Amino acid sequence: MTTTSEKDFSIYFQPPSLKDAKKRGKEDINVHYSFEIPDEMIGFGNDKTYMIRTYGCQMNEHDTETMKGILEQLGYTATDDKHEADMILLNTCAIRENAEDKVFGELGHLKTLKRENPNLILGVCGCMSQEESVVNRILQKHGFVDLIFGTHNIHRLPHLLKQASFEKEMVIEVWSKEGDIIENLPKKREGLKGWVNIMYGCDKFCTYCIVPYTRGKERSRLPQDVINEVRELARQGFKEITLLGQNVNAYGKDFDHIDYRFGDLMADISKIDIPRVRFTTSHPRDFDDHLIEVLAQRGNLVEHIHLPVQSGNSDILKKMSRKYSREHYMVLVDKLKAAIPDVVLTTDIIVGFPGETEEQFEDTLTLVQEVEYDAAFTFIYSPRDGTPAAGMEDNVPMDVKKQRLQRLNDLLADIGLRKNKALEGQTMEVLVEGVSKNNPDMLSGRTRTNKLIHFAGPASLTGEFVQVRIQQAKTYLLTGEMVKEETASVS
Ligand code: SAH
Ligand code: SF4
Ligand code: F3S
Repeated sequence: MTTTSEKDFSIYFQPPSLKDAKKRGKEDINVHYSFEIPDEMIGFGNDKTYMIRTYGCQMNEHDTETMKGILEQLGYTATDDKHEADMILLNTCAIRENAEDKVFGELGHLKTLKRENPNLILGVCGCMSQEESVVNRILQKHGFVDLIFGTHNIHRLPHLLKQASFEKEMVIEVWSKEGDIIENLPKKREGLKGWVNIMYGCDKFCTYCIVPYTRGKERSRLPQDVINEVRELARQGFKEITLLGQNVNAYGKDFDHIDYRFGDLMADISKIDIPRVRFTTSHPRDFDDHLIEVLAQRGNLVEHIHLPVQSGNSDILKKMSRKYSREHYMVLVDKLKAAIPDVVLTTDIIVGFPGETEEQFEDTLTLVQEVEYDAAFTFIYSPRDGTPAAGMEDNVPMDVKKQRLQRLNDLLADIGLRKNKALEGQTMEVLVEGVSKNNPDMLSGRTRTNKLIHFAGPASLTGEFVQVRIQQAKTYLLTGEMVKEETASVS
């Protein structure tokens, strides 16, 4: 391979392969508990600063916390000023084309910075690095990048940094197939809320989705490792945790030595003294009755479930390989509403999947009306290199897709507003997150159902639970008044 890059890449060149990334081996999942900074790298970052730009989902945000933890162990300090940084990492997302465009745009800006400061180390990591086409494009058009690594070898950051600093070559190390779990990586968490990975990867292979290729096979952390981490966060005073996985309901499916699933994990975590526990994301297919039973006990398990549906039409769901039908999804929704009558449901929806007809799209609208989601993330389908859907014939013009997205969003906004209006006059438990960004006299907080609420109060209440009576509801914001400053005991 030749390149127009300003560097060679002879030695440290391990590029990604989508074909290898697709293979799911039967080999055991190894858990590694030891992580140490190599002797020669201790103090490497003293007097140096770093900046990480994070794109994409909570999984990526959490990976950034790990990289921050590693860099700070090396001696680096964080900076928000890219002109000052000795190292800049872009932790990228590959889920849709516009996510990738943002990163390439940013790389364009960073080129000037790199010219002004040749000692700057510029790295690209995250899901885009796992794609062959992206790595090739960087090699061809952005040869000033010093380091590319993927989602499976974050723990190798100290070694990779050493190579990138001391060698002239562009360092590329992307592992296409990885089934291991690395425990005990340092993490820099900030604020009141903590993320906790319970599993990695995804084996669902929805036909539109790149994640099973960029994140590897589904593998669950051992229950004791998750529980110990949650206990530690409780001890440190975190008020809320979110358990993370691409499909948390598949948790434990890969254990062959124990019979322990997501419902069991939630039951154990509900006994830990941490006020709020959330989880994301739930695939409807593996949502079992035991889990519903456990969630219905409430306590620290909040009554908000993010349950991506993607489409309201069973034929489209089949083409997406979601492995459930509209009817199956509605049965699950009915069970959840019966078990938790005030449950807040949110979702993800894709419009304009290849070949989606007007009638099929209208099925999505009627499903949204039936479920009455409080909110949703909605997307226009974006073809991803190497996925089965990218090869499907797509006869839906872009302006039709855009109109569908608008119609869907209008409907969701109507329903969201109606549901929020129904809360007016009610008093709800709110976790105070701090002073509102737009109005220094107001505090900003979240209900158990994750609704944003503004109300007057002193900044000293940050991190506390208060009771707030809702006075006015808008589509995305509630306003209210505090009725009691006392910490609401967790019921
Ligand atoms: N694991 C989660 C989803 C992670 S990706 C789940 O299955 O629920 C977040 C959302 O991005 C998806 O739910 C889907 O709605 C959207 N998405 C994924 N791939 C997409 C694509 N190629 N085009 C448009 N939207 C996509
Ligand atoms: Fe993608 Fe489907 Fe896996 Fe979610 S479950 S990450 S949409 S393949
Ligand atoms: Fe994006 Fe990777 Fe998350 S593709 S959505 S950052 S898992």
